[in-house]
Amino acid sequence: MRLVLVGPPGAGKGTQAQYVAQYLIVPKISTGDIFRANVGQGTPLGMQAKAFMDAGDLVPDEVTIQMVRDRLAEDDAVKGFLLDGFPRNLPQARVLDTLLLDLGGGVDAVLEMVVDDDEVVRRLSGRRTCRQCGRIWHIDFEPPTTEDICDGCGGPLFQRDDDKEETIRHRLVVYAEQTSPLVSYYADKGILVGIDATGPVDDVTERAIAALRRYAH
Ligand code: AP5
Repeated sequence: MRLVLVGPPGAGKGTQAQYVAQYLIVPKISTGDIFRANVGQGTPLGMQAKAFMDAGDLVPDEVTIQMVRDRLAEDDAVKGFLLDGFPRNLPQARVLDTLLLDLGGGVDAVLEMVVDDDEVVRRLSGRRTCRQCGRIWHIDFEPPTTEDICDGCGGPLFQRDDDKEETIRHRLVVYAEQTSPLVSYYADKGILVGIDATGPVDDVTERAIAALRRYAH
């Protein structure tokens, strides 16, 4: 199963990717997570990406596409994957189609997660992420038992640099201008499935799984 998640920043893509990838038994590939890991390790890729990420802009396509090309060539992606954060514009979507055609097939389904802008700002301003295992929390909606400590692995939680209100608003503009055209691109191919991504996390997971049930093993 080759699944793409599409939705504005804060729609809950990373949160749901954790559960949906488990359900579909495929690796979760998040371009944002890969960039952040590289920024944290100070690699050349991280240094190229950092300024764009901090500003809430897209990292240039040539950098992003090469990174995804390399990741999809790894063994665990042969039988399928869940892509969170890629593609992010039409040129990336077209490259993905070509890449998958070379491997045989294409994207099987695209799950669009629909939420409004005010909810996005509420969610992102309270988001915390585990530095050790990557698990996502929220100070009000999904708080850890002990402040700033991950319940799952005991690692420290951090707040992302791009989760300031001004940067969040800019990321929403970038989404509307560059990423939202993907919705009609995939709808035209007949592979788009949309879900309401508001309400409790568990309810959204149920909706996602119901929408994807026919693709499960
Ligand atoms: P990326 O990491 O992909 O960020 P994003 O798309 O902006 O999405 P987010 O991770 O902010 O939100 P999400 O939808 O995953 O929400 P989450 O589950 O965390 O990209 C970051 C940057 O990297 C980009 O700006 C760009 O610079 C670069 N980049 C990445 N990919 C790129 C590409 N392909 N091309 C170019 N550049 C690229 O949830 C958010 C919060 O809400 C959490 O606290 C969570 O606990 C909470 N929450 C989740 N669901 C619910 C719910 N149902 N109810 C209440 N709270 C909830």
